Amino acid sequence: MIRFDSFSKRFGRTCAVESLTLSVGAGEVVALLGPNGSGKTTSLKAAVGLIHPTSGTVAIGDPPRPALEPAARAVVSFLPQKVLFPDSLSGREVVEFYRRLRGVPAERTDAALRFASLNGASERAVGTYSGGMVQRLGLAVVTLPDASVLLLDEPTASLDPDGLCAFYELVEERRAKGKSVLFTSHQLGDVDRLADRFAVLVEGRLVAVMSQGALAERLAERGVMRLRLSGRPSTLLDRLKPLAPDARWAGDELVVPGPASLRPAVLDRVRSEGVEVRGLTAEEGRLDLLYRELVGEER
Ligand SMILES: Nc1ncnc2c1ncn2[C@@H]1O[C@H](COP(=O)(O)OP(=O)(O)OP(=O)(O)O)[C@@H](O)[C@H]1O
Ligand SMILES: [Mg+2]
Repeated sequence: MIRFDSFSKRFGRTCAVESLTLSVGAGEVVALLGPNGSGKTTSLKAAVGLIHPTSGTVAIGDPPRPALEPAARAVVSFLPQKVLFPDSLSGREVVEFYRRLRGVPAERTDAALRFASLNGASERAVGTYSGGMVQRLGLAVVTLPDASVLLLDEPTASLDPDGLCAFYELVEERRAKGKSVLFTSHQLGDVDRLADRFAVLVEGRLVAVMSQGALAERLAERGVMRLRLSGRPSTLLDRLKPLAPDARWAGDELVVPGPASLRPAVLDRVRSEGVEVRGLTAEEGRLDLLYRELVGEER
């Protein structure tokens, strides 16, 4: 598990993270979102024990140990935001180096290189790799130990669709094995696809934590149905009020905000007023809009 308890970090006068309390349990995948400079990398680095909290604590593993202790680091696998390997080493040499460092059996090297899918480039110098290839090599290194905690800083930033699929499979597999995964991302698709919960940091403060279930509810509430009708009975809005209090006319259209589950009853009520439905469109709430709302409210 990963547990931040009132974790704060200041750099001089900059408060990078302020009193973050958040935990990630066994078998749980949590996404950390937020604008540039909101404290995501700082939080992850504290969980890897690379920076000391100014106040508060970060604990890792089961039983939880302070992230700064070597015993905590031993159960962590970390992907930094800026993945850097010595240019002159080949992909295989990089994997081999980390394999020995982590005391992992030799046969894991080939599996990690298969995961990296470098298409014949594993014997070539890393200095000749593209950005996405370096990212995949970084992820391959992450897969080496059977770590119970994965901390991944923008793992999908430069992955192609194949790399993305491989990464999603990796996370699913680790979740199924009961590992704890905390990752940062600017790709909201990753949240949809992977995260059991997501947390949003704005200017170092946690402004929202939401489970997939709660997210689905929030998005459903933001759904809208638009109807074109054969007529415009003056009593219609009043009749709809108990079902859809925010229904309104917009030009010729009847606009009915609310979840999809509400729509059949609204249609029945409309027809019972003696009007015919000539056209219908519906859209669901969007995660990008909800995200902007959460971030915007705070700013
Ligand atoms: N070593 C440091 N010295 C001084 N300030 C720092 C240091 N590391 C981070 N900061 C500051 O802390 C704040 C949070 O930075 P952090 O890297 O955690 O943001 P982030 O959420 O990861 O952003 P991004 O999405 O751009 O990766 C920023 O204002 C940054 O300038
Ligand atoms: Mg960052």
